[in-house]
Amino acid sequence: MNPNAWWGQGFGFMWIIPLLFFVVFLFFIRGLFGQGPGGSNTSTRSESARKILDELYTRLAQEPDVNFGWGKGKENARQLGYAEAWLNQLPDSVWESAAAVGNPFSLGFIQTGETVVDIGCGAGADACVAALLVGEEGKVFGFDCTPAMVAKATANASACGLAQMAVQKAEMAALPLPDTSADIVISNGAVNLAADKDAVLREVFRILRPAGRLQIADMVRDPSSTDSSCCEKASWADCVSGTLHPEVFLDTLRSAGFIHTELAGFTVYRTSPGTIGALFRAVKP
Ligand SMILES: C[S@@+](CC[C@H](N)C(=O)[O-])C[C@H]1O[C@@H](n2cnc3c(N)ncnc32)[C@H](O)[C@@H]1O
Repeated sequence: MNPNAWWGQGFGFMWIIPLLFFVVFLFFIRGLFGQGPGGSNTSTRSESARKILDELYTRLAQEPDVNFGWGKGKENARQLGYAEAWLNQLPDSVWESAAAVGNPFSLGFIQTGETVVDIGCGAGADACVAALLVGEEGKVFGFDCTPAMVAKATANASACGLAQMAVQKAEMAALPLPDTSADIVISNGAVNLAADKDAVLREVFRILRPAGRLQIADMVRDPSSTDSSCCEKASWADCVSGTLHPEVFLDTLRSAGFIHTELAGFTVYRTSPGTIGALFRAVKP
């Protein structure tokens, strides 16, 4: 009998065992690095980061007293320069889940009767402020991907009697609005969370009317930070690793078609030593 015959008599599959171990090992590694957007597989990374993002913002909506490790609520808004009148006029339920990283209203005036769109509106604090500014003749549309945030923002609009404010579940990159339907788009701490920022800013450009304005507060890489690798393995959902360098953010705005693109300044908000709040404005030609 051939001494190697046992390979052909049922033991030939043995080579599969180390292969299986290797495949399991690969999945393990993928799972580990899938949580941080610094990994190499973008789609896996995004799916994993997205799940964490959903859970985090559902929790922020439903358990606003939890300490997430970053500023939120009314006092945070006060530190970012929100007017006392808004902080006092709007009830605590509006502010408790607010996660502002800057004050988009510091970037320009919003007139009575205008149509304002807030992308990544969260529990609706900025949308409520915008609704106060545009008045009953105006309109405010808030969009967020987290159902719990949409529910809370809708309840907040109703509690404030702001019938001019409507909130809907939607992706920032696919807004359910016609072309050239908005006078102004605002956003606060949300664009950095999008997997495809080009698509988001192109979508904002699409819905703005000619001469429409963009006023955004968002987290960016701190250009004065010496640690350029600070953010790659950090949390996407906590507004760290999805951030862009401010110059890249400006380039993305210009690529989308915006003019008068401007980094108006930085805020006091931080999500890590290497990330800082920034204020951007731009105009659609
Ligand atoms: C840091 S919170 C800020 C919320 C709000 N702008 C504020 O100032 O309180 C970011 C929000 O963006 C939403 N968000 C993240 N990615 C989104 C996406 N791709 N489309 C729509 N909303 C998104 C989250 O659900 C969350 O409510």
